[in-house]
Amino acid sequence: MKQTTRFGLTFTMENNELKQSREESSTTEAAVASVALAQQAAEDPDVSTETQETLQQLVGELEQLVGLTKVKDLVKEISAYVEICRRREKFQLKNDSLVLHMIFKGNPGTGKTTVARILGRMLVELKVLPKGHLIEVERADLVGEYIGHTAQKCREQVKKAIGGILFIDEAYALARGGEKDFGKEAIDTLVKSMEDHKNELILILAGYEKEMEKFLRTNPGLRSRFPIHLQFTDYTCEELLEIAQLMVREREYQISVGAAEHLHSYLQAQLDTKSANFSNARLVRNLIEKAIRCQALRLVKRRLYSRDELMMLIREDFEQLGQEDVDFKFWQA
Ligand SMILES: Nc1ncnc2c1ncn2[C@@H]1O[C@H](COP(=O)(O)OP(=O)(O)OP(=O)(O)O)[C@@H](O)[C@H]1O
Ligand SMILES: [Mg+2]
Repeated sequence: MKQTTRFGLTFTMENNELKQSREESSTTEAAVASVALAQQAAEDPDVSTETQETLQQLVGELEQLVGLTKVKDLVKEISAYVEICRRREKFQLKNDSLVLHMIFKGNPGTGKTTVARILGRMLVELKVLPKGHLIEVERADLVGEYIGHTAQKCREQVKKAIGGILFIDEAYALARGGEKDFGKEAIDTLVKSMEDHKNELILILAGYEKEMEKFLRTNPGLRSRFPIHLQFTDYTCEELLEIAQLMVREREYQISVGAAEHLHSYLQAQLDTKSANFSNARLVRNLIEKAIRCQALRLVKRRLYSRDELMMLIREDFEQLGQEDVDFKFWQA
């Protein structure tokens, strides 16, 4: 490659500079080599059209999620990095070992599981994971009740997750009981599994930001094993409403203007008095599902109904939201 000196240091000229210099003096050895490499890369048989299409489709699914700009950017960055590592390998270029264990920080219902699922499927396409499935566990699935029980439970879960992602929700709960608790044994077993199966398993620990930070401090070796941190922020009222729109569209329903106004003021009131277990998009999903059932009750006794009526969720359907719903303190007050 052609080099040049600036600020007393030597730099490689970028491709377009190279192209330009090639046009100027057409047959330098560097230029010929560069063209050869470009052709070789373009003919890479591993990046099949099918793979590219699936990756495009997965990026589409990611893009369709409301908000989450930083998460989306980071996921695209990870996916591009993995792909470039693979290409560099072909040219025998040095690569840092690919450590993709991650921490997802964020409140309930902010899309952590949804993003982890998409990421798993992306990593299959990028040939980092053979299967890409997601095994979601929590403390009770990992921590046993007697000596030896914990290691056995952890190994079972790891075995199920091999080839995909082991997603540990509320991971900080593992450190809850202190030194004598079996949770510590679970952490040690998991750390060992990460080493033993480093090319077959990605571990994602998820939980609230503050608790996760505290958790990482409980074991000095933990933080460096999880180089990627994704931050999932709470949704705004507008984003929650957009999520509601998306959810009804997927289910082939519609929200009337009156229903949207009602939902907006309900969500705003929820945000204003946000409780610790405010569940973001999950709350929206629960509200939509409840409204769908209310609409069904409203229509079921009618003998005459139109296609539009079967699709439309009206204000009344949202007003009848039941007492049993989680996050329903606002209406009960
Ligand atoms: N940005 C988004 N756009 C559209 N739908 C979303 C978005 N975020 C979450 N959802 C939907 O909200 C629901 C809850 O999301 P998900 O289970 O991914 O949240 P979570 O962060 O894993 O929650 P928890 O911490 O409680 O496990 C799902 O139905 C998901 O599809
Ligand atoms: Mg989840």
